[in-house]
Amino acid sequence: MTYFDILKKRHSQYALGKNIDGTKAVDTLKEAVRLSPTAFNAEGGRVLILTGDAHDKLWGEIVPTDLKAEMDRQGVPANVWENTAQKLESFKAAFGTALFYEDQDKVKELQENFALYKDNFPIWSEQGSGIITINAWNALTEIGVGANLQHYNPVIDASVAKAWHVPASWKLRSQLIFGSIETDTGEEKDKIADTVRFIEA
Ligand SMILES: Cc1cc2nc3c(=O)[nH]c(=O)nc-3n(C[C@H](O)[C@H](O)[C@H](O)COP(=O)(O)O)c2cc1C
Repeated sequence: MTYFDILKKRHSQYALGKNIDGTKAVDTLKEAVRLSPTAFNAEGGRVLILTGDAHDKLWGEIVPTDLKAEMDRQGVPANVWENTAQKLESFKAAFGTALFYEDQDKVKELQENFALYKDNFPIWSEQGSGIITINAWNALTEIGVGANLQHYNPVIDASVAKAWHVPASWKLRSQLIFGSIETDTGEEKDKIADTVRFIEA
């Protein structure tokens, strides 16, 4: 597969299962993160990789509990919860979840050492998170593993940190759920016009 074959093939896959070579998927994901560039070579990205019972606990216990409490707190109608609960079940059916974090201690350290760029380091940290996430997603695509990206942070942060002893300086940014593609839910989306997107001179 060429690079562009991978970019074309990568889509949000929501009907995921557990029928993959898990070791290969996790190794692939890790290598993609290792090979990703970061500003000042900070390497501030951190990843909590959950598979097996840990993945099931995340989507079967932690997220439903915390999200339901938050929705109740906000007065969200009960029927909305039913749809959400179904969606969480579908995430649980997948093989694993990579939870992407950014180490805020690293951001602070760089701000102290390079005061001139102080305001940029939090921005570059966010960009770095995007880069490791998409590289991992594309790398999984190459080996035929499907994934979708979720954002249940900050609602779940404390419970996840407690369950898996995540350092306090790690800030949760996203959750990439991955597994076998049981039904291909990927679709080519319409693209905005090049005249809107690009200026060439
Ligand atoms: C930064 C970012 C955040 C996203 N957040 C979510 C999300 O919280 N939930 C979700 O279902 N999809 C999320 N997506 C998936 C996008 O909706 C999806 O990538 C986009 O519509 C293009 O579709 P495709 O992934 O199938 O190509 C996110 C994608 C990106 C790049």
